[in-house]
This record gives sequence, C-alpha cells and structure tokens, in this order.
Amino acid sequence: MTADETPLIIFGAGGHAAVIVDVAKRIYPDRELHVFDEAPDCPPLLGHEVTRGLPDPDILRPEQFKVVVGIGSNAARKIVSVKLRQLGYEFETLVHPHASIGAMVKLGKGSVVFARAVVNPRANLADGCIVNTGAIVEHDCVVGEFCHVGPGAVMAGVCRVGAQTWVCANATVRETTTIGENVIVGAGSFVNGDLEANATYVGSPARQIT
Ligand SMILES: CC(C)(COP(=O)(O)OP(=O)(O)OC[C@H]1O[C@@H](n2cnc3c(N)ncnc32)[C@H](O)[C@@H]1OP(=O)(O)O)[C@@H](O)C(=O)NCCC(=O)NCCS
Repeated sequence: MTADETPLIIFGAGGHAAVIVDVAKRIYPDRELHVFDEAPDCPPLLGHEVTRGLPDPDILRPEQFKVVVGIGSNAARKIVSVKLRQLGYEFETLVHPHASIGAMVKLGKGSVVFARAVVNPRANLADGCIVNTGAIVEHDCVVGEFCHVGPGAVMAGVCRVGAQTWVCANATVRETTTIGENVIVGAGSFVNGDLEANATYVGSPARQIT
C-alpha cells in the first residue's frame, strides 16, 4: 500500500472538509475515507456518511489510518488536532495536484494546500496550516502552526506569521512583514507594516479594528 492509498480519516463535515475530500480523491480516487464531525445529523459529505464524535482508536486503528482535520477555524482545528494526536493518530499533509510546491519547502503535518496555490522555495509552514485555493506563500516565509492563508491571499517573500493567524481571502502582505499570533487580516486588505498579536486589521493599508 502506498502512502496515497492509506485509509484517511477526515474530521469535519462542512465546506472546508468537502474541499479536503475532493483533494484526497484527486490524488487517489479509490481511497478509503471515513468522515467524522462533532455535530449531530450531518448529511453525507460528497457521498461519504458522517459519523458523530471522534474516531474510536480500538475500531479504526491509528497505525492503519492517517487523519486530516477539515475545520476552517484555526482555534477549533487546533483543539481537534490535539485530541486526535492524544488518541494516537498521525496527520497527513495533503497537496492538490495542481498546487506548486517549491524546492526546500517545509509543510507541517496535517497542513493542506489547495488547487492553484503556490508555495515558493524555502517557505516553512508549521503543522495544521491551510494554504487555500489560489493563495501564494512566497519564498522564505515562515508560517506558524494552525494558520490559514485564505483564497487568493498573497504573502510576499520573507514574511513571518505567528501561530493561528488568519490572512483572509485576497489580502496581500508586503515582503518581510512580521505578523503576530492569533491575528486576523481582513479580506482584501494590504498589510504594509508589522502587526501586533491578538488583533484584527482591515483595509488598505490595514488598520486595527479590534
Ligand atoms: C475581517 C473579518 C473576519 C471581520 O469580521 P467581523 O469581526 O465580523 O467584522 P464586521 O463585519 O463586524 O466589521 C467591522 C468593521 O470592519 C469593516 N470591515 C470588515 N471587514 C473588512 C475588510 N475585509 N475590509 C475593510 N473593512 C472591513 C466593516 O465594514 C466594519 O466597519 P464599520 O464598523 O465602520 O461598519 C471579515 O470582515 C472578513 O474580512 N472576512 C473574510 C472571510 C474570508 O476570507 N473568508 C474566506 C474563507 S475560505
């Protein structure tokens, strides 16, 4: 069995998880998938029944499965990832076949890279990150764990981003910028200077709103 064929557990049954199912199927169409979610009565996800709660490691043995957490919220994705790790599961890093990953890029465990995204050489993304559809993470960027670079967002070269930060859709971050942990950069914003942690910034140039 190759790595692509290892049965996959996806936690999450919303829109983000749907994209993850789609990516997994494009890499290996016959892959065995098991979908879980904490919410009750979730409808099937792209044809896959959704089981409520966490996977039971006595039934789905951790050594026989990989997991990906398909939750868009950075905080919730981290919480569930910690629980799954405690249950003994290992995380898969999923890259859409139409994404471009440059030389000497590091992608952490459980990170996902969607279609037409570009991660250029020597970028370093920690565990649990999302590089969403069409996003660009330029050369030598360093991205902390459980960050989300939204659809079409651009991080120019040599930026540093703290853990759990969300750069929303179509935002642009100027080269060599440092952004703290747990920051939200609003959709379409232009960041042209360093941003303090634990705050939300919007606009062009981006200004703090909370
Ligand atoms: C940044 C964001 C998360 C803030 O959401 P929020 O906390 O609910 O903020 P609000 O919508 O209450 O907006 C607060 C103020 O900021 C302004 N604002 C919010 N987002 C803005 C943005 N992206 N650009 C400019 N101004 C923005 C609002 O107009 C409002 O201004 P006002 O007080 O003068 O009326 C949200 O606006 C955003 O940009 N979401 C993008 C989500 C995204 O990328 N989704 C893709 C997921 S795959």
